[in-house]
Amino acid sequence: MRIDIISAAPDLLKSPFNHSIIKRAKEKGLAEIHIHDLRSFGLGNYRQIDDTQFGGGAGMVLMIEPIANCIEQLQAERTYDEIIYMTPDAKTLTQSVSNTLSLKENILILTGHYKGVDQRIRDKYITREISIGDYVLTGGELAAAVLCDSIIRLIPGVIGDETSALTDSFQDNLLSPPVYTRPSDYKGMKVPDILLSGNFPKIEDWRSEQAYKRTQQIRPDLLDE
Ligand code: ADE
Repeated sequence: MRIDIISAAPDLLKSPFNHSIIKRAKEKGLAEIHIHDLRSFGLGNYRQIDDTQFGGGAGMVLMIEPIANCIEQLQAERTYDEIIYMTPDAKTLTQSVSNTLSLKENILILTGHYKGVDQRIRDKYITREISIGDYVLTGGELAAAVLCDSIIRLIPGVIGDETSALTDSFQDNLLSPPVYTRPSDYKGMKVPDILLSGNFPKIEDWRSEQAYKRTQQIRPDLLDE
């Protein structure tokens, strides 16, 4: 999979993809990430990328030309399966969306800043808009990093033990059950006997029950879906 990201603050994206599982996915050739600095498509001597909004009001808006020129230059080189805009005014990211996106070949992500981008960019180029939660970040870069992380770890071969991604929280609309490791008794705090029993069908039943209970307590909304 190849992911291109357009950003007005590309430095923010330098670090998140150079660690652990995502770094290994890149080294194995399973994921390629290319960051494009919107400023290099800016207009005039000052490389302008934003302007005040029509109709008045506080806050700058990212202009149509630099973004359109950047997108069209990238589109001349390849066809994108999705062009995604990261914004708080969109549906919230779910595991199901990450699953869908992990099967794509080429994804382009546009990150917003300030008041966002000129609406005409959204109308013309964007195939999907994604928010990572009901709160506002200073820009879409960290949101894009979250999205990329959640997608890349699902690409077959990225996580060694395939079942590990398949048993994540949300993969079946349930939160994960509790997990434990050695020691089995820490200052009197004991691991549930069932996990030490070696009875694997019973352990699976216990885990399902715990996942359901936890979901009911913390995220009952997931059970309605
Ligand atoms: N940009 C600013 N806030 C955001 C959010 N919550 N999700 C996605 N992009 C954003």
